[in-house]
Amino acid sequence: MASFHILVLVVAMVTLMIPTNANLSPHFYDKVCPQALPVIKSVVQRAIIRERRIGASLLRLHFHDCFVNGCDGSILLDDTRNFTGEKTALPNLNSVRGFSVVDEIKEAVDKACKRPVVSCADILAIAARDSVAIYGGPHYWYQVLLGRRDARTASKAAANSNLPPPSFSFSQLVSNFKSHGLNVRDLVALSGGHTLGFARCSTFRNRIYNASNNNIIDPKFAASSRKTCPRSGGDNNLHPFDATPARVDTAYYTNLLHKKGLLHSDQELFKGKGTESDKLVQLYSRSPLVFATDFKASMIKMGNMKPLTGKKGEIRCNCRRVN
Ligand code: HEM
Ligand SMILES: *[C@@H]1O[C@H](CO)[C@@H](O)[C@H](O)[C@H]1NC(C)=O
Ligand SMILES: *[C@@H]1O[C@H](CO)[C@@H](O)[C@H](O)[C@H]1NC(C)=O
Repeated sequence: MASFHILVLVVAMVTLMIPTNANLSPHFYDKVCPQALPVIKSVVQRAIIRERRIGASLLRLHFHDCFVNGCDGSILLDDTRNFTGEKTALPNLNSVRGFSVVDEIKEAVDKACKRPVVSCADILAIAARDSVAIYGGPHYWYQVLLGRRDARTASKAAANSNLPPPSFSFSQLVSNFKSHGLNVRDLVALSGGHTLGFARCSTFRNRIYNASNNNIIDPKFAASSRKTCPRSGGDNNLHPFDATPARVDTAYYTNLLHKKGLLHSDQELFKGKGTESDKLVQLYSRSPLVFATDFKASMIKMGNMKPLTGKKGEIRCNCRRVN
């Protein structure tokens, strides 16, 4: 009898501890449109074959969507007479990309489902997951929670104030992530998104020409990155975050250990002082499996940020416009 009570107690405790979101579910489209997820995956796959980088751009779109008033597809809205959207905010302008692939996904999925039932916000979450899995293999596949609805408005000002710039210090990064309900472990794990893709010269120029003694940068790395990023001009020249920009691996973290972080904000995660963040960078660098596990958990957490559910928002017919 006593052991039965303990069992009930344990079951109750475990149930309370499992992080669930009352509204989102991995099975949201199972009945209403079972083809939705496979169709999205195949469009993402084709897009990556067409342009190797595009999956990295899709992952970043989901991040930039979620960090501005939650994962609500707001980043996809073009400017209207009623509002100036997020596309022209400083962190996004001439920087975020992949909008036409999102249009392509939306068209294909609405056609397969025979009506617009899949939200643009969910498309971003699924496309980010599929991209990471395609670049990284089965270890990086996880069940995305679904059922987000789309915002009817967007805000340039909110994008400017909520997205972290590459000039941020460690403590600024921590408080920015904290304001989104994410902790230091999430910050370090999610920054691993920079195992994919490229950055423009203008985003890391200050770092590679900064001769300050306190600037943590390998001199050879600084010299070689100056070749793609001159002191003036070439603002849009691209440099990969690591040597394998189309593979999810832990080279990003290993680079940080060797003072070869591309952005100032990247190197802020590792300064060799034995902090929690330093230890996580070391851990992820040597353990791809721990990185995969933490990255997936933090992606799900990020994807749960303030979704619109139930009757809030709408399911857009065109991701660029409210209905
Ligand atoms: C921690 C704070 C972060 C900062 C300061 C930051 C900043 C940046 C910057 C400046 C770029 C280059 C933009 C350009 O060239 O115009 C970039 C690219 C990128 N970021 Fe981040 N980022 C952060 C976190 C994240 C997170 C959490 C993810 C996803 C989980 C992510 C995914 C990416 C990807 C994939 C790219 C490359 C995109 C492409 O090649 O199109 N970043 N980031
Ligand atoms: C602007 O807002 C009004 C009132 O909410 C709406 O009727 C109109 O369609 C909106 N215009 C655009 C271009 O979105
Ligand atoms: C140069 O690096 C130091 C140390 O990271 C930093 O305090 C300073 O603000 C940097 N200067 C520029 C122009 O980025």
